[in-house]
Amino acid sequence: MICDAIASAPDAQIGLPTGDTPIGTYAELARRERAGSLRVDRTTACAIDEFADVKRGTPGTNAAFFALHLPLAFRAVQVPGSNAPDPELEIASFAEGIRAAGGLELCVLGIGRNAHVAFNEPGSRLDSRARVVDLELVSREAHAGAFGGLARVPHRGMTLGIADILEARKLIVLVQGQSKARAVRDAIEGPESELVPASWLRAHAEVTWIVDRAAASMLSHK
Ligand code: PGA
Repeated sequence: MICDAIASAPDAQIGLPTGDTPIGTYAELARRERAGSLRVDRTTACAIDEFADVKRGTPGTNAAFFALHLPLAFRAVQVPGSNAPDPELEIASFAEGIRAAGGLELCVLGIGRNAHVAFNEPGSRLDSRARVVDLELVSREAHAGAFGGLARVPHRGMTLGIADILEARKLIVLVQGQSKARAVRDAIEGPESELVPASWLRAHAEVTWIVDRAAASMLSHK
């Protein structure tokens, strides 16, 4: 699906997530690029979130993640500056830049154990826009390894808002593992609610969930 989206709109921008889940996907995209069946040199990859208040490229940041796990020759890989002195301004202009260049053709997402999408933590509204957020402990814990300890994980992040994400023309949500089973069930079968930010994705007409068996294990309709 990602390759098809790029082939049909090679000059487009696509939003990409970080985390353990998409690593295999990115390796497969890189394999296809090496094999000559995928070209991304006209395509711009955009991060959907980044940590704030930390030096650019610090291990654990999304910029560092993409440098390591997205070894493709994209026209550009755009990530909000984690070292920006004014993160609120940084993420607002990042989102404005995406809009000015025509929006996202495709946005690939993961979800957190607390059903966050990008850094839209529980409490995020359907009409939320790009902004700075306080990260929940469970989200910071998920990144402790990459930063070399929980104490080093920033407390704030910058994220595209739910409304920004819903403006992408297509959405793909990648989820794996038992630890996500409850979040998947709540997002797909529970009430739409700001307590379950991923439930807002149901407002989108073209969203595809790709969920492994463990993450799908609590769904009642399979
Ligand atoms: P994970 O992260 O793939 O590392 O679980 C997903 C997320 O928190 O969005």
